[in-house]
Amino acid sequence: MPISYNKENHIFKLDTSDSSYAFQVYEENYLVHLYYGAKIPDDNLEHLMFRGSFPSFSPYNAKVCNPMFSADITQSEYSGEGAGDYRLSALAIKNADGNCVTDVRYVSHTVYSGKPELEGLPGLYLNSEDEAQTLELVTLDAVTGARVTLYYTVFESLPVITRSVRVENSSDRPMDIERVYSCCVELPTADYDLIGLYGRWYKERSVQRRALAHGIQSIASKRGSSSHNHNPFAAIVSSDANEDYGEAYGFNLVYSGNFSAEAEVDASGSTRFIMGINPESFGWRLEPGEGFTSPEVVMVYSHNGIGEMSRVFHRLYRKNLIRGKWRDAVRPLLINSWEAAYFDFDSDKLVSFASQAKKLGIDMLVMDDGWFGHRDNDTSSLGDWYVNENKLSGGLGSLVERVNALGMKFGIWYEPEMISPDSDLYRAHPDWCLQVPGREKSIARRQYVLDMSRKDVRDNIFEQMYSVLSKYNIEYVKWDFNRNLTEAGSALLPAERQKEIFHRFVLGTYELMSRLTKAFPDLLIENCSGGGGRFDPGMLAFSPQIWCSDDTDPIERLSIQFGTSMCYPASTMGAHVSACGRTQIDTRANVAMWGTFGYELDPNKLTDSEKREVTQQVEDYHKYYSLIHEGELYRLVSPFENAYRCAWEFVSEDKTEALVTCVTMRRAEHPMFILRLKGLDPDKMYEEDESGEVYSGALLMNAGINLTQRSDRDGESLTRYFRQV
Ligand code: GLA
Repeated sequence: MPISYNKENHIFKLDTSDSSYAFQVYEENYLVHLYYGAKIPDDNLEHLMFRGSFPSFSPYNAKVCNPMFSADITQSEYSGEGAGDYRLSALAIKNADGNCVTDVRYVSHTVYSGKPELEGLPGLYLNSEDEAQTLELVTLDAVTGARVTLYYTVFESLPVITRSVRVENSSDRPMDIERVYSCCVELPTADYDLIGLYGRWYKERSVQRRALAHGIQSIASKRGSSSHNHNPFAAIVSSDANEDYGEAYGFNLVYSGNFSAEAEVDASGSTRFIMGINPESFGWRLEPGEGFTSPEVVMVYSHNGIGEMSRVFHRLYRKNLIRGKWRDAVRPLLINSWEAAYFDFDSDKLVSFASQAKKLGIDMLVMDDGWFGHRDNDTSSLGDWYVNENKLSGGLGSLVERVNALGMKFGIWYEPEMISPDSDLYRAHPDWCLQVPGREKSIARRQYVLDMSRKDVRDNIFEQMYSVLSKYNIEYVKWDFNRNLTEAGSALLPAERQKEIFHRFVLGTYELMSRLTKAFPDLLIENCSGGGGRFDPGMLAFSPQIWCSDDTDPIERLSIQFGTSMCYPASTMGAHVSACGRTQIDTRANVAMWGTFGYELDPNKLTDSEKREVTQQVEDYHKYYSLIHEGELYRLVSPFENAYRCAWEFVSEDKTEALVTCVTMRRAEHPMFILRLKGLDPDKMYEEDESGEVYSGALLMNAGINLTQRSDRDGESLTRYFRQV
């Protein structure tokens, strides 16, 4: 059983396939953390608890007999506020007396097979009850009546634990949650590096690795979305860890709003890590009897390096996060109108794209921004989700029929959470956007943000979308989000609840997305936020793929896709071949193939030889589909570590196939290039497709393949496909 409780020593042990996690109910019901790391059979871990001397500056609880115990230095399972623990607090609740002292202690627990759903929030799901066990640990602050349940779901066949927290007010007076992190994790030393994914619009998810240092280091967003700037992912890895070696603890918050991940190295040289909703822009009032549920954090442990950590995330997300038909069904190969036409299109132009695309083997035309209201540029019409008949003469129905008649599916663009000042919706309901009394509303991309916490707003947007999507044969929606939140207030919330708006906004968006996916279970949703500004597991629970970046230059895409792959699988990474001229079309395709693959160009402008190449690429897409969508990723040469080349490899789960891609970013100093593969079976023999040469897995992984090229020019690329013989 993955979860055990030893009644003698009061130690809880959570064992996944490859990791163990342990804590103890100590004297006075303190929850003391003991261990998280590689799997161990024993649970006599109490000796790990004491962390050094006990000077007078470390306060203690006089009722605890052990003079070495102090909240200041002991590892806490879930740290509170103001009661002797001066490090990062995971929980702080302002009580009706006006102070924030928060000190929760163990009360009871239950263990069961399965995983509970989180109220209003997306999370991982199980395919069968016996895939995981859940521990519900009830704690209480006896003075204030804050009843706090810690949830741990422990996976049996993957080194994965998910955690979340629920706070209930069991008193008869109101209380205000000031911070409620989803996890608190303690590590015994500071010999770790922190890895995060930072960036900006057009340059998302660069990998940043830094040594942990004394004090607090943080990765966070308070933009109202998970953001381009920081992803809700963090890894703490041993200082010597690389792709194949060392310890890696990966954390990913299943949440699309303001988040914070903080690591603190304290005076004893140990590390505390917390992750959850960013408390800087958060507050939540709990009236007596009310409860609040935190989003879920996914924790992955690997003792085989960072690459293995990523592959565990990938396996997990493919099977336990992505939902519905599109988890397993082959996704349509699409062509999107944005970079081909921007706002300048009409029905005939779109039909001409579809007609040419069909000849090349493409499955779906996606009509991007500009089809609704009177939108000919980005100054108007968000919120008016009815067709612009001036552009699409004959209406949307006729366009969809014409595209369908060519044998092509049809997809459409929406930006449901936004409103243009120049829109019928805004003129009718100026109070429907986020705003605070007496302040100008900041504008961004000429638009405001709808107050998604309001049911009337969501009802209106849902009805508008429903009337289009239920009427026409639309099989795909690109759900965009092109600005961040400012002056975030709601006209409906009382003053004491205004701090709830950021979280209520996210809950509102989730509610709308869940309504939509329920009404149209076969609809494929691709998320987008000015590219990859909301690339997070919360969104993936509704949309199986997310547009990775507005930057479609294949060389720029290398670092974006490398970073994204830290925890997100290829099947989720929206990647297209565009008209970007920096490289030949084969390199653009080789890079986009590490993703959902598609096109974003005017197919009528392709030369004949490019058309032949595209036809071949479409064939390759089908040939490699399951290898890329379900295979294991090995990052071979990282663009963050090598200035010249970048290489990656997909290996099928049964190790019978592998596809290697290598891109020259800049002509290398040394022409010779021998690449060692990974993840193969050393005893299997593999044939290389192009040359027909047969090599052992041992040779390919140890001696490598010689990829030295005659030309090796900037932007050139190559692929090699191996199949077991
Ligand atoms: C965002 C998206 C683009 C495109 C435009 C349309 O920037 O990332 O792909 O859809 O919006 O306005």
